[in-house]
Formats: sequence, C-alpha cells, structure tokens
Amino acid sequence: MLNMAVLLSGTGRTLDNFHEKIGQGLLKARIRVVVSNQQSALGLEKARKYGYPAFHAEGNDAINAILKKHEVDLVCLAGFLKLYVPPAHLRRSVLNIHPSLIPAFCGAGFYGMRVHQAVKARGVKVSGCTVHFANEEYDEGPIIVQKCVPLAGQDTAEEIAAKVFAAECEAYPEAINLVAEKGIDFFWSRQEAAAG
Ligand code: GAR
Repeated sequence: MLNMAVLLSGTGRTLDNFHEKIGQGLLKARIRVVVSNQQSALGLEKARKYGYPAFHAEGNDAINAILKKHEVDLVCLAGFLKLYVPPAHLRRSVLNIHPSLIPAFCGAGFYGMRVHQAVKARGVKVSGCTVHFANEEYDEGPIIVQKCVPLAGQDTAEEIAAKVFAAECEAYPEAINLVAEKGIDFFWSRQEAAAG
C-alpha cells in the first residue's frame, strides 16, 4: 500500500475526498502527513481533525525536511499552488491534479477558478480534469488519468468548476490506485519511449 504525503494551499477538498475514499476502501493508500504552505489553510485544520500529522512549511527545503520524518512513497499535490521541488529520491513520485484536460488551459497562471473562467470564455464544449506526474515544469509529466465533462452553453464558471470537481473526486483516487498497481516507472517509461 502506498504511503502518501498530501500538499495543499487551500480548502483541502481533495484531502476530504482522499479521507472519504480511504474510509470506503476505494483508495488503497495511507495518508502519512499533510503539509501546507499557508499557515491558515482550512485544509490543515481538516487534516488535524482527521488525525493526520499536519504542518505548515513555506519553502521546498522546509517541506522536504518534514517529509523526511515520515514514510512517504508518493507526494500528492492537492490544490498546492506553488511549484514543488521534491528531494531526489521522490523526483518521479509527485502527482498533481489539474482542473482541465491537459494540454488545454494549463501552465503558469492557470489554476483554480482561473481555469474555469478561461474555459467559459473560450466556449469549449467539454472540459475535465487530469491527474499526472509532476516534473519541474507546471502541468507536465506523464498523464495517468483524464476524465471529461460535457458543458452546456449556459454553464457559469462556478457550474463548470462543480462539474469538474465531481470528476476529480473519481479521477484522483483512480490514478493513485493505478500507480499502486502498475508502479511509478510504468508511466515514466511510457512517456520516455514515446519521446524517443
Ligand atoms: C484542486 O482540486 C484542483 O482543481 C485545483 O485546485 C483544487 C483544490 O482547491 N488545482 C489546480 O488548479 C492546480 N493547478 P481547494 O484549495 O479548494 O481544495
């Protein structure tokens, strides 16, 4: 079973989902530690309420010093809004969820509601979410799971966000279970082989 660290900056809705899915036996992983770069993040409060070790730490070094003290195989970014640089041994073990179908509406500056506002403005007919391994660039690295949601012309950005988040709640646990089943190298070697 994979041991997860969860990194967040905000409300911790993804942490809620992990906690719930673990309780239901639908996510076969353990949350070992939760870290936020925001001291007042609601997600940190939730983590403590759930009984997970939870810490505030700002830079990569401080975060990595905390991770070192816990058993961690996989770092799951859960609305973590800074570029995270893991220690060398976890370089290929960082997962991120992005609220669009990468490579659309992604990259620096595209996060949270900004994504859904851009989706609304462009008038696309489908959006969705992407769970992928993170590398040193925003929203790159091998894709593990994507889920589409159909959009109606009259959907507001808030309605799009709600539809996409419902898809995220299925996609992220599914992706972690897939990594547990196939192993981390499976996904990286597939991308490297495709790149020649
Ligand atoms: C995640 O669910 C994801 O959609 C988005 O932030 C949400 C977490 O928000 N992540 C990104 O945009 C990363 N580029 P929360 O703080 O409300 O839990």
